[in-house]
Amino acid sequence: MWSSARSVFLMALVAATATAELSFVASLQQKGREVDASVLSFVPTTPLTHRKHTPHAQATPSRHGRGASVRDTISYSSNWCGASQHVSQADGIGSVFGYFTAPDGTLRPGVPPPQFVSAWVGIDGAECNTALLQAGVTTIVNSNGGQSISAWWEWYPDNSYTIDGLKVEPGDWMWINITTTSESSAILEVTNPQQEYTMTLDISNGPKLCRVDAEWIVEDFYDANGQVAFANFSDLWFVQSGAQSIGGRSIGLDGAAMVHIQADDGTILCSAEPYDNASFVISSHS
Ligand SMILES: *[C@@H]1O[C@H](CO)[C@@H](O)[C@H](O)[C@H]1NC(C)=O
Ligand SMILES: *[C@@H]1O[C@H](CO)[C@@H](O)[C@H](O)[C@H]1NC(C)=O
Ligand SMILES: *[C@@H]1O[C@H](CO)[C@@H](O)[C@H](O)[C@H]1NC(C)=O
Repeated sequence: MWSSARSVFLMALVAATATAELSFVASLQQKGREVDASVLSFVPTTPLTHRKHTPHAQATPSRHGRGASVRDTISYSSNWCGASQHVSQADGIGSVFGYFTAPDGTLRPGVPPPQFVSAWVGIDGAECNTALLQAGVTTIVNSNGGQSISAWWEWYPDNSYTIDGLKVEPGDWMWINITTTSESSAILEVTNPQQEYTMTLDISNGPKLCRVDAEWIVEDFYDANGQVAFANFSDLWFVQSGAQSIGGRSIGLDGAAMVHIQADDGTILCSAEPYDNASFVISSHS
């Protein structure tokens, strides 16, 4: 009796584990027409730690630049620059969206190339311990100053996927809309109006989200070898950005924390300045 009950339980467990594998289906529109999405390839890389890290140094909070917004919660991070909006789990984040300019990078003096800068939109990178769902663009600046740039998405702690076949040029506007359909499934849309495509992913069985934070971030990310060298970049805007709660409430950027990257020695490498309820600008400092 005992042993058969146990084996049934184990089989159920194995079945549950087997069905819980993340899966996704891609579709692609080019110039407004549905095309074969098999032109795209999703190249898995090990998951990257895009979570918010606290800095070692502590700076005196200050208001940079325009400062004409009700947002003036300033926070510091060793890897994040941008806006982070927290909501209560009672009516959590249903979707997060925004346009941003793909990073246009140049070599930062005094740091060995290759250098990197990522920009992304995501859910749950700040406070949720179980998952982070995000999509964006990474620009790599090589030793000769040339740039290579690619779009990617990741549902941490699952793999990160570089999306081969989606062209992005530095400075292109990218629209990302991530809509959760449950705590473990989502519709992710990536649109680049200059290159005239929209890619949509229908994702299932993702790691469990908390849906308590929406984020619009420029990042000096960590890979398996530690934090990558951070490239210099032109001012980068996030516009028409916002979120919607699961219950359908519109959420703007007012009240979001504006996050700055602070190096170990206390210098600010990147700052985020509010502009209005749906936009802000990120500046690189050297
Ligand atoms: C984001 O995508 C969802 C699902 O496709 C859609 O219902 C919603 O209107 C989109 N949000 C915006 C701001 O376009
Ligand atoms: C950083 O990039 C900006 C925009 O391209 C440029 O104006 C600035 O001179 C660069 N800074 C350094 C130190 O190269
Ligand atoms: C910011 O936008 C949100 C969502 O649209 C709205 O509910 C809120 O009232 C706006 N805040 C201000 C100060 O306009």
